[in-house]
Amino acid sequence: MSSIGIIGAGQMGAGIAQVSAQAGYRVILSDVDTERAQKGKDSIAKLLGRSVEKGKLDQAAADATLANIIPTGDPAAMSECALVIEAATEREDVKRAIFANVGKHLSPDAILASNTSSISITRLAQAAPDPKRFIGTHFFNPVPVMQLLEIIRGLATEQSTIDYVLDYAKKIGKTVIVAKDSPGFIVNRILVPMLNEACFVLSEGIANVVDIDAGMKLGANHPMGPLTLADFVGLDTLLEICKVYLDATGDPKYRPAPLLMKYVEAGWYGRKTGRGFYDYSGPEPVPTI
Ligand code: CAA
Ligand code: NAD
Repeated sequence: MSSIGIIGAGQMGAGIAQVSAQAGYRVILSDVDTERAQKGKDSIAKLLGRSVEKGKLDQAAADATLANIIPTGDPAAMSECALVIEAATEREDVKRAIFANVGKHLSPDAILASNTSSISITRLAQAAPDPKRFIGTHFFNPVPVMQLLEIIRGLATEQSTIDYVLDYAKKIGKTVIVAKDSPGFIVNRILVPMLNEACFVLSEGIANVVDIDAGMKLGANHPMGPLTLADFVGLDTLLEICKVYLDATGDPKYRPAPLLMKYVEAGWYGRKTGRGFYDYSGPEPVPTI
């Protein structure tokens, strides 16, 4: 099987690397430096180790998956990849710089994809080597568990690019939905305003963190309450998504909750920094307000 490149070894990049490696792909996993990429691989090793302990995976399969993942800080290592998926920080300037850089090393027929949650695929394609071979591949967190892959077709995306990604999705066992290139695509267009609204409900003093989460878990059967989910997604990512929607549409319904902005200003990004609407330093998450 051909090689897959993943740029960004955070929670999403590591997850995409894991499912790709489990399907037998050789995965080149990059980040700003090799150390960060290795950290992403370590997080995969931890999850696989837990599955082995639970008896859900045998050690040989875990070892084979890890052996398929090559961490690197060098974008030139992507030259062997038929498909490269960017899963770096949700900022357009960061993504554009990555495409310009990695674009110099890609093979002429390679496909470049972005896991962006919100940024226009058509616009991002302008920074890619060939917009015909550029596409949105929107995975869901946690990638090894969530069944869905949302594919976003940019204005210039060719059918052969979509077909390649459909085949990849099949190999990694994901179910595909296809969206037009529009702010939020399908799922986040509906989900993100709800998470943002939960921040307003909290800041208006209508209820506390625990009751807001219990409300949506028990009253709407969501697996996680919206503030737990916001912490899980990353408050920095959530804020960037709201800003992209507001910028793209001018519709005030997407204005980010001031409390969400404050948390991000404080560096409280949620689970990944150990503090958001909950504190994650102890055995159980504890509400911070
Ligand atoms: N990474 C990998 N696997 C994980 C995981 C993680 N972070 N967290 C849990 N899992 C796995 C566990 O190992 C377990 O696997 P097994 O069944 O094989 O043992 C399984 O998930 C269930 O875990 P738990 O029993 O510990 O916990 P749970 O039943 O509460 O489920 C959950 C955890 C799957 C995360 C569940 O709470 C859930 O579905 N939450 C909602 C997630 C969601 O909405 N995701 C979308 C976010 S939005 C997005 O991704 C788009 C965007 O652009 C922002
Ligand atoms: P994260 O903060 O966990 O990871 C981002 C990673 O990108 C970090 O390891 C960072 O070092 C790396 N990075 C930053 N600049 C880089 C560069 N120039 N070159 C290489 N790596 C670089 O974020 P995440 O939650 O994994 O999100 C990544 C992308 O996936 C974003 O576009 C986000 O919107 C999208 N996404 C996130 C979720 C979610 O629930 N968190 C779900 C779907 C899609």
